[in-house]
Amino acid sequence: MKKTVLAFSRITPAMVEQLQGEFEVIVPDPKHGDVAQQFDEALPRAHGLIGAGRPLGREQLAAATQLQVVSSVSVGYDNYAVDYFNERGIMLTNTPDVLTESTADLGFSLIMSSARRIAELDAWTKAGQWKASIPPALFGSDVHGKTLGIVGMGNIGAAIARRGHLGFNMPILYSGNSRKADLEAELDARFRSLPELLAEADFVCLVVPLSEKTKHLIGAEQLRQMKPSAFLINISRGPVVDEAALIEALRAGTIRGAGLDVYEKEPLADSPLFQLPNAVTLPHIGSATTQTREAMANRAIQNLTSALRGERPQDLVNPQVYKA
Ligand code: DGY
Repeated sequence: MKKTVLAFSRITPAMVEQLQGEFEVIVPDPKHGDVAQQFDEALPRAHGLIGAGRPLGREQLAAATQLQVVSSVSVGYDNYAVDYFNERGIMLTNTPDVLTESTADLGFSLIMSSARRIAELDAWTKAGQWKASIPPALFGSDVHGKTLGIVGMGNIGAAIARRGHLGFNMPILYSGNSRKADLEAELDARFRSLPELLAEADFVCLVVPLSEKTKHLIGAEQLRQMKPSAFLINISRGPVVDEAALIEALRAGTIRGAGLDVYEKEPLADSPLFQLPNAVTLPHIGSATTQTREAMANRAIQNLTSALRGERPQDLVNPQVYKA
C-alpha cells in the first residue's frame, strides 16, 4: 500500500505529480474550504509531511500517529519542536546549501538598499518629488571599503563576506562559536567578540540560527554598542533582534538604519517600522527566487522519499532517530 504524504506548501503541481508516482499525496486546497482544517483532517493518515512555515510540535502533531518524517523546505528549523520529534522518533530534514548564494545575494541587497536608500528614494521619485538634484539630507552612505561584521559565520555568512571583501573591498569581522581558519586565510576575516564587532562594524549582518541562546541577541544594549553611522541587517530570524528596541534605536538615531527580511511576528502587519524611512522591510524573501525555491523543493522531495523508503535522508537534522 502506498504511504501518504501531506504537502502543505512550496510544492508545485509538477512536484505533486512526481510524488504521486510513489505516494498518495494530499494537498490542502483553499478551493475545497478551510486549509487548516483539511491539514488537521489529513494528519492521522500522513506518513510524511512536506512544506515550510508551519510551527509543528506536540500540540500540532498529536493526531499524526503514523508520522515518520517531516521534510522542511527550508534551511532553518526553529519552528519545529526537535525534542518532541526525537521523543516520537520522527525524522526531520531541511534543505541546506542550495539556498546559500541566493540568500547571500539578498543579504547584500539589504546592505546596498539601506546604505544607498534605494527603496526610500524609489518611493520619493515615484511620488514626483524629483524637481532638482537631491538635497544632502537624502544622501546615502558608502558601502565599498566599509567594515562588514558577520554575526554567525556559517555558509551564508561566508557567502556574504565573500561578496563584501572580493567585490567591495570591505574588511571583514566575524563573531560566533568558533574560529574559521580557512576564511581568515581566504578573506583576511578577523575574529571578534560580539561587543567588539558591534563597536567596529559599519554593517552588522545577522546570520545566526534562532535558538534559546540567540533569542534577542541584539537588544537595546547591543544597539547602543553600534556606531551611530552603522546599519543592522537581519536575514536570520526575527526574534534574534528585540524589535521594540530596534524601532526605538531607529527613531532615536542610535544607529543609522536597518535592512530587515525577518520579524518577531510574520507576516509583518501594522508595524511602526512602516513609518521609519531608515528601515528597509522585506517580506522574508531570503531564498525566494524561482530557481532556488525549486532546488529547495527538489531537495526536500529527495529527503522525504529517502526517509519513507527507509533510507537515510541526505539532510537529516536529528540522526539519532534514524533506524536503518
Ligand atoms: C529558510 O530556508 O530557513 C529561509 O528562511 C526561508 O524560509
